[in-house]
Parts: sequence; C-alpha cells; structure tokens
Amino acid sequence: MSGKIVVIFGASNILWIVFAASQDFKIETSPESRTLAQIGDSISLICNTIGCESPFFSWRTQMDSPLNGEVRTEGTRSVLIMDPVSLQNEHSYLCTATCGSEKREKQIQVEIYSFPRDPEIHLNGLLEVGKPITVKCLVPDVYPFDKLEIDLLKGDHLMKNQEFLEVMDRKSPETKSLEVTFTPIVEDIGKALVCRAKLHVDETDFAPKERETTKVLQVYISPKNTVISVNPSTRLQEGGSVTMTCSSEGLPAPEIFWSKKLDNGNLQLLSGNATLTLIAMRIEDSGIYVCEGGNLIGKSRKEVELIVQEKLFTIEISPGPRIAAQIGDLVVLTCGVTGCESPSISWRTHTDSPPNGTVRSEGTESTLTLHPVSFENEHFYLCSATCGQKKVEKRIQVELYSFHSDPEIKMSGLLVHGNPVTVSCEVPNVYPFNQLEIELLKGETIVQNKVFLEEMDRKSPETKSLEVTFIPTTEDTGKVLVCQAKLHIGEMEFQPKQRQSTQTLYVNVAPRDTTVLVSPSPILEEGSSVNMTCSSSGLPAPKILWRRQLNNGDLQPLSENTTITLISTKMEDSGTYVCEGINQAGISRKEVELIIQVAPRDIQLRAFPSESVKEGDTVIISCTCGNYPKTWIILKKKAETGDTVLKSTDGAYTIRKAQLEDAGVYECESKNEVGSQSRSLTLDVKGRENNKDYFSPELLMLYFASSLIIPAIGMTIYFARKANMKGSYSLVEAQKSKV
Ligand SMILES: *[C@@H]1O[C@H](CO)[C@@H](O)[C@H](O)[C@H]1NC(C)=O
Ligand SMILES: *[C@@H]1O[C@H](CO)[C@@H](O)[C@H](O)[C@H]1NC(C)=O
Ligand SMILES: *[C@@H]1O[C@H](CO)[C@@H](O)[C@H](O)[C@H]1NC(C)=O
Ligand SMILES: *[C@@H]1O[C@H](CO)[C@@H](O)[C@H](O)[C@H]1NC(C)=O
Repeated sequence: MSGKIVVIFGASNILWIVFAASQDFKIETSPESRTLAQIGDSISLICNTIGCESPFFSWRTQMDSPLNGEVRTEGTRSVLIMDPVSLQNEHSYLCTATCGSEKREKQIQVEIYSFPRDPEIHLNGLLEVGKPITVKCLVPDVYPFDKLEIDLLKGDHLMKNQEFLEVMDRKSPETKSLEVTFTPIVEDIGKALVCRAKLHVDETDFAPKERETTKVLQVYISPKNTVISVNPSTRLQEGGSVTMTCSSEGLPAPEIFWSKKLDNGNLQLLSGNATLTLIAMRIEDSGIYVCEGGNLIGKSRKEVELIVQEKLFTIEISPGPRIAAQIGDLVVLTCGVTGCESPSISWRTHTDSPPNGTVRSEGTESTLTLHPVSFENEHFYLCSATCGQKKVEKRIQVELYSFHSDPEIKMSGLLVHGNPVTVSCEVPNVYPFNQLEIELLKGETIVQNKVFLEEMDRKSPETKSLEVTFIPTTEDTGKVLVCQAKLHIGEMEFQPKQRQSTQTLYVNVAPRDTTVLVSPSPILEEGSSVNMTCSSSGLPAPKILWRRQLNNGDLQPLSENTTITLISTKMEDSGTYVCEGINQAGISRKEVELIIQVAPRDIQLRAFPSESVKEGDTVIISCTCGNYPKTWIILKKKAETGDTVLKSTDGAYTIRKAQLEDAGVYECESKNEVGSQSRSLTLDVKGRENNKDYFSPELLMLYFASSLIIPAIGMTIYFARKANMKGSYSLVEAQKSKV
C-alpha cells in the first residue's frame, strides 16, 4: 500500500517540478522526498523557498490527519519537528509555500520502523544432555513486523529461519519470536546459540537493519554413577575409625554431601567433603550413611551401612601358647590386653606359685622376664587380667632345652688306608636328650643314625655320642664326614633345632715299596764314588731318612735327602746303610750293604810258639790280613812235589804233635777281586833225641788254651820231630820256589 502511495506522489511530484520550472519562485525540501525514522527518534522536515521575499508556509498530511509535529517558520524556511517520532507520523507530508498568487508544493514521505533492542534468547529450562529443550528467540517491539526475518543458529548450523509475512491488521510494534526444540548432545558443550533478526525496512536499501544475540550453550549432565569406597571396612570395632570416600559423575562436577540417616528418616548433614573420616566410633554410630552428589540439574545418592561392634575384652600372650627356650637365655613373656583401658594384670605358675622372674606392667601390657632361664622356669605360666567385673586368663608353656654347641667329630687315630678307625660324633650338654637324634653321613650317604630314647631320670643336660668303625680307603680322601644333631623340641614345632659339624677326610697310606738304587754298584773299589738313592711310596709322600748302622748296632743319621753320594770311598765306608721312608702313617725301611774293596795288605804269617819246634810239639800257623771285609786266605805248604792247601780255620792251621816232615815252607796268600799278597815262613822241626827240646805238657796246655783264646790270630803249633830242621826257608827262597 505504501508503495502505491509513493508511486502516486512520485507522479504528482513530476507535475510540480514541470509546473515550477517555468517560474523563478522555487521550493526545496530536506530530506528531499523520503525519510525513515525509528519510533522515539526525532526528525525535522525542512522547507525552503527561493525567489520570494516572504513566503507563506503551510504543512498538511496527505490524508489531512493531524501533523503530530511542531512547525517553526522563519523567513524563507519552515521546519516541521517530530519529537518523538511515533506511528502517527507515518504519512506523506506536504509543504505548501505561497508567494503572492504563486503557490508551490513539495511532498516528503515519512516512514516509521521500530527495532529497538537485540533479540532475546530464552530456554525453557537447563540444557541437559539427552533431554529435549525449546529455545525461543524473541525480538521485541518490531515494526513493521511483516518485514522481519529471524535466524536461529547453533554454532554454524542454521536451525530455523522465519519471515513474518502475515498481514498487519494493527499499526503497532509487536514482539515476534521463533521457537526450536532440540536435544543437546555432549558435543554441544561450548557451542553458541545465535539469534539474528533482520528488519527489511527499506527495500531500496540492501543492508537490512540487523540485530544479533549470542548465548554460549551451558550443557549439564545430571549426577550419576555415585560410588562409595569404605576403608578399612563397613564392620568396625568400637573405638575404631573409618574413612569413606564418595564420587559422582556429572557436569558440572557434582558437589558431594555426606549425611547420616536418622531414625525418623531425615538426613543429618555431616560434611560437604568427598572424604568422610569417622573416628572413635561408638556402637550408636552404626547406621546408614548417605552420600549425595548434586549439581544444578540433578542429584544422585548412594547409601552404605556401617556396623560398629562392641570391643571384646581379650588377652593375648606371646610368643604363642608354648615357647622352647635354651637354658641360660633371656626369655620375655608378654601379656597384652585389648578392650580395657586400665586392666590389672598378674602372673603365676600353674602350681599357683609366684613366677620366678621379673614382672613389669604398664598400661595394657605386662612382661615377665626370665633371665637366665633355668629348670626352675619349666612351667605353665598363667597371665590373668581383670577389668571391672570381667576376668580373662591365658597360659603359656615354657619348655627348656640345651643345645649350645655343634657336634664334635673325633677319630680314634690317624686315618690310614686299610686300618680300621672309629669315628665318634659327640653332642655336648644336650637336654632333653631323649629328643636327640644324631646322624653321621659320609658324603651323601647316611652311615649311621641314632636316637636316644632312654628315660631321663635326671633333669640335666648330658653329652651323647654315636660311634662308627670303618676301614678307610684312599677313595675316601676328600669326602666329607657330616655329623648332624637334631633336637626335636616341642611337639608343635615341625622344624627341629639342628646343628652340624663337618670334617673332610684325608686318608694316609703308610710308606711301602721302599727301594734303594746303588749306582754304579754296592761293591766298589776304594776311591770310587757311589750314589745311593732311596724311594718310598705312601701318602703323604714319605720323608726319606738315611742312616748308617754302627758296629754296636746303633744307627747314625746321615741325610734326609733321597740320594747320598760318597765321593772317593774308603774301606771304612763299607757297612750297612739303612733308608727309611717315613710319614705319619708309618715307616718302611730298606737296608743296603756297601762293600769297599781294598787289595789285600798287611798280611802276617806267624808260627806259635815259634818257627823252630821239637818233634811232638803243637804248632799253630796263623795268617791274618788287615783288610776289611775279609779276604780269601789260602794257606799252603810248599813241596817239591806240589803245594798242599791246608784246611785252616780263620787263617789258622794247627799241627798237633809235629813230625819232622812238617818242617818246610808255609805260604799264606790273601786275595780278592782287587789283588793278592802272600807271605811265607819256614818251620823247623827238631828230632826228639834231645829231651830238653821236648815241649813240656804244661806248655802244650798253655798253647791249647791260647789258641782257644785268640782264634782271630791263627797259630800253628808245630811239633818238630827233628831238632834240626834243614828246611828253614827264607821268605825270599819261598817266593822263588813259588815262581
Ligand atoms: C575436604 O578435605 C580436605 C582434606 O582433608 C580439605 O583440604 C578440604 O578443605 C575439605 N573440604 C571441605 C569442603 O571441607
Ligand atoms: C628362682 O630362681 C633362682 C635362680 O634361678 C633359684 O635359686 C630359686 O630357687 C628359684 N626360686 C623358686 C621359688 O623357684
Ligand atoms: C751321582 O749323582 C750325581 C748327580 O746326579 C752324578 O753327577 C754322578 O755322576 C753320580 N755318581 C755316580 C758314581 O753314579
Ligand atoms: C741334601 O741336598 C742338598 C742339595 O741337594 C745339599 O745342599 C745338602 O747338603 C744335602 N744334605 C745332606 C745331609 O747330604
């Protein structure tokens, strides 16, 4: 409709311009033909004339409605002021100027709108994930609302667009709105709702009047998954404490409240903290505790029941109901009371005698110290505690044992291969020995095991042992003898007290196979050297000891070296040498006879009593040699017909009742491997005619006797038959005859 008016006025305008162009008298307006004003603003329409000194102005509206403005005219200018602009000003205003008979007119159209405020966004509740919500975008006091367009966006997404093209039956500003219902999702958190209102007032103007309101989406999550954790337990002892922690999920994070449910069902608020600690609980603190997580849009609650139990009046005795204590040790028995603040505690033995120890009581604990613990302490001890009317008692048994030292392994002697030996394993001062078990092991093998089940007639520690005889062999060396003693104290104790000793075996071998090597030979020439080497086997390797046997049978130590060397031997070195192989297991000896040979020397050939005897006398011819060892001695009688070898004893030849024919040359030859030497003498036997020459029987007896006394000195007694013995050979002659 207004469009039409504009067209009509536009046409008459052109007429006025054509009409005025022929005149000098002109009229001008400001604004020229059209203006847009918002309700409440103020505008002025100005009319000016040119070419007239004092024109007459008049203003009117097209429909002759009231002007709704104030006119101020001054000279060639007239102003129509509308302050404030209202809907009644929506007209085409006509300014008429009259100058004499001439009349000029100009029209200004005033268009009105109302768009005073930004849109309002209204939600019909709090945004909760998953719960549909209606958003209303409200644009207040709009005019002309048929030109209004509203967009509602969530983030970049246009949710709804609306134009309000309805017929305006009333000329007045109206509030228009747009509604969208949607279901928020978690992703909507942080997004913005945008309500944009556009008023297309001026069709010629492309940019519409535009107002916009943004509202960040505040999305909520109702509390859920409320969980309570209780530490240590929902079951408590009187006086105990408990800590309960509650958590609940939601957005914003729910606030946690702890309360206790009262008997009437009401809740008594306890704390606004997620963690609730209750201390010194009493029986009446039992009940249901409630945790509630709450935020703007909801609540979630969880309940837990706490049960506070009455604390029992009990007594605890330690260590355990029985204790095995070693004689002499320090033993502390402790009696502890729970469930009573100041009990009275006492100790006694099962025979109702006072305990033989030191009692120390403090608060809810009492100790009985037995030090040093002895047989007097082998009892049941009773600890009694009294608290008000209540009395409790507990007992502990003290068992004694003695097992102070490790077993001792003893051998009856040195371990020698093949010789029986007795091993004893001794456990000193054991009590109670009827619980003792001794085991002897060689390597991994059990050799013997013994238990001592005998009656204990006396209460006192005793020394017990086990003996085993065995024959060691060299294979036993390096094996370990283990003596293990176990004392089974207390039937309750599975693990016996145990002690053990070990000994590594070393089996000796007595020296044997002692041999002597004489290099070059045991028979030597004087002046040569000899090595005598001795060896002996045994374990440990035998020590060698060389000794020489003296004439009196004693042994003279020579060397401890295996080899003795004699350089440039003399005859005196001859004799018996003894080598001994010695170790702790025994001795093995070997003898060797060393013979140093010397050419015969110092031969002596004598006749007894004289070289001149009478027939019938007894003569001893004796040949001796200074050498050692004895050399061969050959005693001969020389004759033209040939030499006669005489049977001599130790170089002595005896002629009883010498005959004349016994006279002659006697020769003695001494020889050995090294050489020989000889001597000769001439025996003269005189005839019996001369009685004086007779050998008296007394003398004869004397010579017999002397021949017995000195057998080493050979003696030839010659009973000369002839007084004159022609055969008195000189030694020189005898030698000659021999050649
Ligand atoms: C909750 O307890 C903690 C630690 O015990 C404490 O620091 C905090 O102030 C308490 N909060 C409230 C609200 O009582
Ligand atoms: C208490 O112990 C001591 C030493 O151990 C002993 O001499 C005394 O006889 C004991 N008394 C009683 C009552 O057993
Ligand atoms: C004795 O032994 C030594 C050293 O082994 C050697 O030099 C010497 O020739 C030996 N003597 C004899 C007579 O064998
Ligand atoms: C034993 O031998 C060593 C060296 O081999 C020697 O020095 C020592 O004199 C010897 N001892 C005897 C008693 O022969």
